[in-house]
Amino acid sequence: MVDVILGLQWGDEGKGKIVDYFARNYQVVARFQGGPNAGHTLYVNDKKVVLHQIPSGIFHDGIINVIGNGVVLDPVTLKKECETVASFGVDLKKNLFISERAHLIIPTHRALDKAAELAKGKDKIGSTLKGIGPTYMDKTGRNGLRVGDLLQDDFPTLYEQLKTKHRHLLDGYQFHEDISEWEKDFFEAISFVKELNIIKGEYFINDKIQEGQKILAEGAQGTMLDIDFGTFPFVTSSNTISAGVCNGLGIAPQKIGEIIGISKAYCTRVGSGPFPTELEDATGEKLRKMGQEFGATTGRPRRCGWIDLVALGYACMINGVTKLVITKADVLDSFSTLSLCTAYKIDGNNTKEMPLDLEKKNPVPQYTIMEGWQADGSKAQQLDKLPVSMQQYMKFIADYLQRPVTHISNGPGREQIIEVN
Ligand code: GDP
Ligand code: IMO
Ligand code: MG
Repeated sequence: MVDVILGLQWGDEGKGKIVDYFARNYQVVARFQGGPNAGHTLYVNDKKVVLHQIPSGIFHDGIINVIGNGVVLDPVTLKKECETVASFGVDLKKNLFISERAHLIIPTHRALDKAAELAKGKDKIGSTLKGIGPTYMDKTGRNGLRVGDLLQDDFPTLYEQLKTKHRHLLDGYQFHEDISEWEKDFFEAISFVKELNIIKGEYFINDKIQEGQKILAEGAQGTMLDIDFGTFPFVTSSNTISAGVCNGLGIAPQKIGEIIGISKAYCTRVGSGPFPTELEDATGEKLRKMGQEFGATTGRPRRCGWIDLVALGYACMINGVTKLVITKADVLDSFSTLSLCTAYKIDGNNTKEMPLDLEKKNPVPQYTIMEGWQADGSKAQQLDKLPVSMQQYMKFIADYLQRPVTHISNGPGREQIIEVN
């Protein structure tokens, strides 16, 4: 059986921490989409580690970690990450397996990402500039290179052919950048990646399922950044939703079990695009400060606002969420009142539905206001020790979304999490 953990907002919900926590109950953890645009933070022996492409189960002895075919892989970032992880004593030969079908990010993909963003001017996406969009475009455009190609003798030729295509595109953008340093790093990194376990991911995962092993699929980004159902065009280029697990790992839908959706107790977004509950005032600033809301991949300040139950309702529906995990509850400790968006007012009418063009509709969030708890919620280790107003806040969310909140995370630490049931 394959259970799924994914983000329900615009990313950075705390997936890394929650996957690391849940991983102990699984034999395999697998990433199914995204690439080094992700930044998943975990704490190992009180040391902070940010993972971009390696699944967040890597610090558990005896757990297999798989990078699935749906991921786009940057060898340079992967090599660096492998070195960091190995410095904690992890044996990557034993614990990390990479699908031969995962597509490769090459240096000109990153240049193209930059060129495309520059060309968009004020309408820029706010991409992490890791080459994600251009690499997925080459996948659907049937041009890309895959991890398995690294093992072919003619890889240098394939690389040059793709680079030439990219050069034409870059000329069209009139974008010229010296990529010789990137290329040097790239070729060094591919020699390293070739020595890792490169596998037929779809057979590997299905064999594990057949053997009765439990698999945890780890999402990157969040539902509102999904290419089909997010706030297009301000999205990433992959299917971040539960459906993405099937084509990102090569498994059938009936193999999916629990779908665990993560949301912060408030909301953040990094990059451009609509964000109805955003607070561009002192309250937003306070959320950023208390939540340390700075991007794990790019260091950019995250935009902050109240929890958006309309967007979360939509995300629960699209993903078929069976359990909710609410993170960063402790960040709200010092607020006297808390607002929860329960509807959007669009053209004078209240709605709980997500419009096609959230940006243009410019919805006015309709809030329910609750009392804050104004107490330290970060020390509690069981539900009844949490401030009563915090428990009520969580119940309101669960009732609105009609899904159980099964865990509340009340601090960044590995063990700062409360099981509700
Ligand atoms: P991800 O991309 O979903 O894995 O999330 P990020 O790692 O980008 O961002 C989440 C941030 O919040 C990280 O710095 C985590 O260490 C931190 N974090 C996770 N859960 C909690 C929590 O319950 N409370 C607090 N205060 N921080 C948390
Ligand atoms: P994790 O897995 C938050 C955002 C970027 C930008 C848009 C497109 O850590 O939650 P891309 O680089 O994919 O072309 O950027 O998506 N974005 C993320 N925001 N968390 C992430 O990952 C993100 N990955 C991409 O900021 O707005
Ligand atoms: Mg992140």
